[in-house]
Amino acid sequence: MISDFAIKIKQNVFRCLPASLGIGIIPARFREGIEMNSIEHQNVVHIPVMVNEVIELLDVGNGLFVDATAGLGGHSRAILEHLGENGYLLALEKDPESFRILAERLGDRPKVFVVQADYIELCHVVEKLGLSRPSGILFDLGISSFHIEHSGRGFSYRRDEVLDMRFDPTNGVPAWHWINTLKIKELGQILEKFGELRNGLKIARSIVEFRQTHGKIMRTSELNEAVSKVVATRRLSDVLPRVYQAFRIFVNKELEHVAHGLAHALACLEVGGRLVVISYHSLEDRIVKGIKKVRGVETLTKKPLRPSEQEVRRNRRARSAKLRAYRKLEAVDEKDIYDCIADRVPSVDLGR
Ligand SMILES: C[S@@+](CC[C@H](N)C(=O)[O-])C[C@H]1O[C@@H](n2cnc3c(N)ncnc32)[C@H](O)[C@@H]1O
Repeated sequence: MISDFAIKIKQNVFRCLPASLGIGIIPARFREGIEMNSIEHQNVVHIPVMVNEVIELLDVGNGLFVDATAGLGGHSRAILEHLGENGYLLALEKDPESFRILAERLGDRPKVFVVQADYIELCHVVEKLGLSRPSGILFDLGISSFHIEHSGRGFSYRRDEVLDMRFDPTNGVPAWHWINTLKIKELGQILEKFGELRNGLKIARSIVEFRQTHGKIMRTSELNEAVSKVVATRRLSDVLPRVYQAFRIFVNKELEHVAHGLAHALACLEVGGRLVVISYHSLEDRIVKGIKKVRGVETLTKKPLRPSEQEVRRNRRARSAKLRAYRKLEAVDEKDIYDCIADRVPSVDLGR
């Protein structure tokens, strides 16, 4: 399925070109505004969430352990420290810039494979590398501090940047394109379904009016201005993060990816293997929670684990985290798993 597992950068560091994802080459006009930063890697810091809980519930030791959303490698490093003599780590990351940092940080170590790939390719990557089925797989969903603080892609309303919001800016369509072309009803659906905003249609109307009076909305400052015309100032700090969450989820098809990725990962795990997932908002958590309905899967966390007060004080990003863990008891079919959770993935009707 992987067309080209080609470019071997260093030992154990691979770029996987995801032809099977059905994502075409990006037209030149969507490259507009991409601010590929040259980052001093050592300055990019992301504090991993609930690390001890992850290590314990994954039962890290011998076998293959996969960090499916390796980001800057915080959890990967912890997994590495706990590997047994016959333990291996496979770290996957989709974002080319995060991958570069990850490869710098982990690529030289023994027992580690670092691959730029989408997690829905996990099983194929494992096969291509000639590895055995994983004993444990971790998903730490959402964005990292890198995306907010260093990517320059408009993930946060607090920074004046181009509204790109793609995890992989070499593929797909940036947020500004959708924000400037969708109709009020479509924008409203995105804001209500993916941002859980009750007044999504009102905000959508304001976005379209802003487009008509000011021209294209290309930057976060312009989107903020359009939203602030219909939302009281005291509510903006609640509403703006949801607006950004909504567009980010839509642009990256995040919830569909989460459902497909989890089904794929569970099918790929060895019998007896463990799946640990950290989610950061209720839309993600609803999908993760749905796994408990899958036949042949044991739920290890009756209620989701939450970070301690101490951890939240140290790392504000941890405050909304929920961790759920599962053990695979028998072989399960990927489609059967997906069917169990598919109804938890909201969709937007673009009428085209
Ligand atoms: C919360 S961050 C992970 C942080 C990481 N645990 C750490 O400690 O550094 C989630 C990461 O998942 C990546 N990601 C999102 N969707 C992905 C996908 N479909 N496949 C692989 N990685 C993905 C994002 O680019 C981001 O770096």
